[in-house]
Amino acid sequence: MNRARRPLIAGNWKMNAGGQEAFGLATGVADGARGKDRVEVVIAPPFTALAAVAYELHEAKSTVMVGAQNMHHEPGGAFTGEISAPMLKDSGAVWVILGHSERRQHFGETDEIVARKVTAAIRADLRPIACVGETLAEREADQTLEVVERQVRALLDELAKKPGFGVIAYEPVWAIGTGKVARPEDAQEVHALIRKLLTESSPELGAATRILYGGSVKADNAEGLLSQPDIDGALVGGASLDAAGFGKIVESAERLAEAAERG
Ligand code: PGA
Repeated sequence: MNRARRPLIAGNWKMNAGGQEAFGLATGVADGARGKDRVEVVIAPPFTALAAVAYELHEAKSTVMVGAQNMHHEPGGAFTGEISAPMLKDSGAVWVILGHSERRQHFGETDEIVARKVTAAIRADLRPIACVGETLAEREADQTLEVVERQVRALLDELAKKPGFGVIAYEPVWAIGTGKVARPEDAQEVHALIRKLLTESSPELGAATRILYGGSVKADNAEGLLSQPDIDGALVGGASLDAAGFGKIVESAERLAEAAERG
């Protein structure tokens, strides 16, 4: 964490809590986040609960923001079953997760498609959380930095249009939902590479962009990760479905941000 960047903790609910359960979970997150003013908190429910959760948080005067988990790159038209950036914005979303490894793996999203989505999101004033990360086979073949560099380079031009508006999430695929979290120093190595690529594109982009770590982040391992200089927050999957545990991650970020402020 670096005092120049406000930490961001985002909960990716994936294909869970898309109906009635969404209300209790969102309320729990809002309660846990109250008073943690140094941290930005985002929850990404399924599309079916997005507008209702955004309304609920607004009524509760919560600072917790809502994000979507995906979107189509076209603003509208004959794309049955798809959701566009302007629709998400209209439903109360502030953020959108793009290029998650589950989208890349199971739904064929390429670097090019992810870049188009990032462009469309920014155009609609929706803040992208663009995900990158290597698979286990790529890590074992020592290709981690190469793969992440390729994925990040595809996004630089888009992100540079509005430095700090978008966020990058580094999520090693082998750490997602497996309980195998990257060691803080290994995650930092990749975050430092991402920071370098952003800074080479423009110093302002490098300084302003928050880089989140994702992959089996939980209350008991968050602090070690968030203490790294280039880790500015977390994208939390499984542990975001438990408001109390998620709240502890927000608390860790708040504590570290307060300590960073004191210098
Ligand atoms: P996980 O998922 O925390 O369950 O590993 C993270 C993610 O996929 O964003």
